[in-house]
Amino acid sequence: MRTHPVQTTLLNCGISNEVLNTYKERVERFHFELENSDDMTGWIDYPLMDHEQLFREIESLKEEISGNADVFVVIGIGGSFLGARAVQEALTPYFGARENGTEVKYVGHHMSGAYLQQLLHYLDDKEIYINVVSKSGSTMETALAFRVLRQYMENRYGDDAAQRIIVTTDPEKSPLKRIAEKNGYRHFAVPPDIGGRYSVFTPVGLLPIAVAGINIRSFMEGARNAALELKESDLTLNHAYQYAVIRNKLYNEGYSVEVLASFEPALKQFHEWWKQLFGESEGKEGRGIFPTCLTFSTDLHAIGQFIQEGSPILFETLLHFQETEGDYIVPFDQRNEDGLNYLAGRSFNEINATSKQGTALAHAEGGVPVIQLEMKKLDEYHLGYLMYFFMKACAMSAKLIEVNPFDQPGVEAYKRKMLELLKNPK
Ligand code: PA5
Repeated sequence: MRTHPVQTTLLNCGISNEVLNTYKERVERFHFELENSDDMTGWIDYPLMDHEQLFREIESLKEEISGNADVFVVIGIGGSFLGARAVQEALTPYFGARENGTEVKYVGHHMSGAYLQQLLHYLDDKEIYINVVSKSGSTMETALAFRVLRQYMENRYGDDAAQRIIVTTDPEKSPLKRIAEKNGYRHFAVPPDIGGRYSVFTPVGLLPIAVAGINIRSFMEGARNAALELKESDLTLNHAYQYAVIRNKLYNEGYSVEVLASFEPALKQFHEWWKQLFGESEGKEGRGIFPTCLTFSTDLHAIGQFIQEGSPILFETLLHFQETEGDYIVPFDQRNEDGLNYLAGRSFNEINATSKQGTALAHAEGGVPVIQLEMKKLDEYHLGYLMYFFMKACAMSAKLIEVNPFDQPGVEAYKRKMLELLKNPK
């Protein structure tokens, strides 16, 4: 039998077949609700559709950009940039750029004037293309940064600027679509029935990921296989639903914080994507698990103390990829002044994996429930699979606490206050 690409091992979670059985009926009901709903569920089958034309369009634009630009600037916030950035950073070397990839920079995901000023300065001696990504086309952070970048492009490229500005937005309702049409910018559609945090497999994620030099076909193949395998309504066979159920059981027992931790710093932006997916999908109506993320072993020397011995409010999800690009062997040292020769000949990745095992055991002994998710390789295919896995799990998890996974009404509150203050300065 084929092993499931996301291998789950539990420590201290108190999950048994009896517990799973108590969820069986609800999970099936929610599964059918999700599968048969047309309310923002377009992402469920999106990877199963034929996107050949879109892939070709994106690949040809990627070639054009790599021939004419040093930097590709993505303007967007929340679900409009986190997925692309997660994949790009996970699969780009720590030092230097990816072969065949263009450097990607992000803006419009906050309102730091210093960042914007320094970005423009950084771009001054480089050739650029920009991609503004906003489903609504009216998000303040994105719109402000686009205003600045658009003028910057026009000042630098004159009439040729239009050729270098790409818009990704809702095809019907967005004011950005009208701007694109009026000014002759190329534009991609965000499917109306797919929300920001579920949109990484659409042009929202695919264009920046392709420009970064990453193979979008393998990425989508991973998502496609996940979409096929996770269509299973039976909880005992659907690993994404099992993850949702484990979270729900722990939440009901009072564990209100989930720490997603991994042992590869390249996954830091992946953490950010995961955090937004779960936080915005579940945190509403006074309910939801607070999602937070750590990178080990770095954070074991910061927050590890709290996890081991602090307030018992959290459970941990450890994410691990067995193979990563590159490794290093600990050298033998004749002097052995540091006493580390017992590690000579072993690889850093092996030691890192052992630190993961040790961490899981220690935290479980400290009373922390630990969910271990393991994948074979940190590459396009497995990231595509994993992102879809988390999206499916998240939708089910939100259903289990009876909130709508696809809205975010609470985000409007800060916008209203900010607008009041901006329009009526004291
Ligand atoms: O997940 C979501 O729906 C949000 O995080 C949005 O992506 C975010 O608010 C940006 O919205 P927009 O793409 O409309 O600019």
